[in-house]
Order: sequence, then C-alpha cells, then structure tokens
Amino acid sequence: MEHKVYLDRNENNYGPSPRCFDILKNADHSLLSCYTKVYSTGVKSILSERLAKEVNLPEKRVLLGYGAEDLLKQAILCYLNKGEKLLIPSYSWWYYKELAGEAGGINIEYPLVEGTDSFQYNIEDIIKIYEREKPKVVLISSPNNPTGNSIALPDLKNLLKRLKESIVIFDQAYAFEGFNDQIESMLTENPNLIIIRTFSKYYALAGLRIGFALIGENIQKLTQLTNRYLGFNRLSEEVAIAALDSPEYYKTISNKMKNDKELYYSELGKLKGFKVYKSDANFILVKIPKEIYAALKEFMNKKGLIIKFMNEELLNSHLRITLGTEEQNLSVINAIKEFSDNSHF
Ligand SMILES: Cc1ncc(COP(=O)(O)O)c(C=O)c1O
Repeated sequence: MEHKVYLDRNENNYGPSPRCFDILKNADHSLLSCYTKVYSTGVKSILSERLAKEVNLPEKRVLLGYGAEDLLKQAILCYLNKGEKLLIPSYSWWYYKELAGEAGGINIEYPLVEGTDSFQYNIEDIIKIYEREKPKVVLISSPNNPTGNSIALPDLKNLLKRLKESIVIFDQAYAFEGFNDQIESMLTENPNLIIIRTFSKYYALAGLRIGFALIGENIQKLTQLTNRYLGFNRLSEEVAIAALDSPEYYKTISNKMKNDKELYYSELGKLKGFKVYKSDANFILVKIPKEIYAALKEFMNKKGLIIKFMNEELLNSHLRITLGTEEQNLSVINAIKEFSDNSHF
C-alpha cells in the first residue's frame, strides 16, 4: 500500500514523551485488572488530583472525560434544553455545529473578523448578538479551529463579564497551559464557566482519549453526569501523568512547531494568491485561489499528502494543514510549490 502522510486531523505528529511508552512497557497486572482504589482518599482519580494541583483548584472542580469531544457533548446535553440557543463562532470546528441539534436546541453563530494576517474575535459583535439572542450556552474556542487565532486575556475577561446569564464553555483544546495562573480567579469570578482541555494535542495523546474540564462552582449538574463510580481508565491516567512529568520534552517539540509554522508562513506566503493566517495552534489555515482548489487537491492526494481542503459555506477555498514532523512539512511545502510553479493561473 502506498505510504500516505495524514495531516488533516490536527494530531501531534512528533508523538508523546518517551516516558509515556515506559508506562506501557512496565504496566503490571493490577493496573489492567483492578478498579482504582483512589476513591477511598476522597478524589475521583489520580489524574484529576494532579491536574487540580497544577491549576490550584480543589479536585472536585476538575472533571474527566473521553476527550474534549465527550465533555463538550456532555456539557451541551446537560445544559441545553429543547428549543434553547447555543451561540458558537461562525468559523469553528465542524462538530460545534452539530452540538445544538444533538440536544434539540438551536444553533446560532457570531462572526470572527478577518484581519490582514489572522482572524480575530470582535467582543462588541459577540455581545450584541448575545444580548439579542439570549442563548443558554455560549462557546468560545481559543485557539480556534480552523482559524488558529486566540482570544487575548483582557478581551476574554471583558467578554465573560457580559455573559453572566449563560453557561460559557471555553474550549482550550489547543492551548494546554494557556492562562494557568488565571484559572482559579477566572472560575471564581465566573461560576458558570467550563474550561475544556485535552491531552490530544499538546501532549500528542489523541489515541488515549483523555480530556478534562475545569469548572466554576455552579457546574454541579455536569459534575454528577461525568462522575464514574468505578473510576477512570487507569492506564490512561498513568500515561497522562507521565506526559505531565515531561515538560522538557514538550517544550522542545512546541518550539519545533513554532519554527515549522514560520516556515509555512514564509514559504507559502510567497506564492501568488495565497494567504497564510497566523496560528497559535498545531495547524495552519491557508487561503488559496479558488481556481486551483480542485487540481491542487488531486495533486496532493496523488502524492499521498493528505491535508484538509475546507469545504464549508464560509471557508471554501482554504486548506487546513496540520503540522507534521520537519520532514513531512517540507514535503507538503515542496509539493505545493511544485504545483504552483507548474500551474498557469
Ligand atoms: C476545537 C476542538 N475542540 C476539541 C477537539 C476534540 O479533542 P479531543 O481529542 O480531546 O476529543 C478538537 C479536535 O480536533 C477541536 O478541534
């Protein structure tokens, strides 16, 4: 079978810390055969306990789930009743648009503004729509998928002040440590806030399926819903903790990714008709001339370089390229340059 390189699902292609593999190699009988006994100490998991320490919260304010996807779904099913509104960004992860429907609710959107080299949240626009539509739940994503932009802390704080009547879900899937020193005060000031994070992206553990939520005081119903009396996946907990114990490894790959992004900005940014957006995530968004879209897609597929050709109402001449290893990134850049050099548009 021809070798394909998959750079279309925002996975972390540098892979997890070697310490994660050590856990798998050394797993013993009890880790696989027995339920956790940590309940007897009054916490739900060794992982929630560890995460709580990292952000200075009581353990009960850290919820665990089967990926950020699972926690998002549970939060929406918990708080969005039939006929109620969910407010999401117009450019966003496709799954956001499904969420309201899964709960029998109504999906409404707020726009992101396109600047010269990135998309931006416009706080006043969001507030206007919020006050008009009165949604039960609001979703903010930072960095946002697929645009890659983040919301600045002062903007987030101002925005949260105006969204007090709703449950606010702040999806930080792509920013594991963003605002860590602010989490405690942000949750105290905003008791309806749910911050969702994951081990899938920064920690390169998407296959493990571990996400977690950091929650305000009012988020009791979701706490009950996510609780598991027989505990959580013990092997996953250990692997995730090994990842948390490897800060040097992850700092190194995150620096590599910064360089990888710079290479994409400079190399693809030179091509006629291309616009590369600045990204704070592990992928980049690139606008390409509509007239080459179909042919470039075919060309890249033939080369076995699978990147995402966006096909949405608002983003329909855009590529979303997940960062690969240095070698994979060079293959993608060289292939796009080769195509561009040989096409006459
Ligand atoms: C914005 C956003 N949130 C959440 C997720 C889901 O992450 P997880 O693997 O933890 O379910 C994704 C996956 O791509 C995503 O793009």
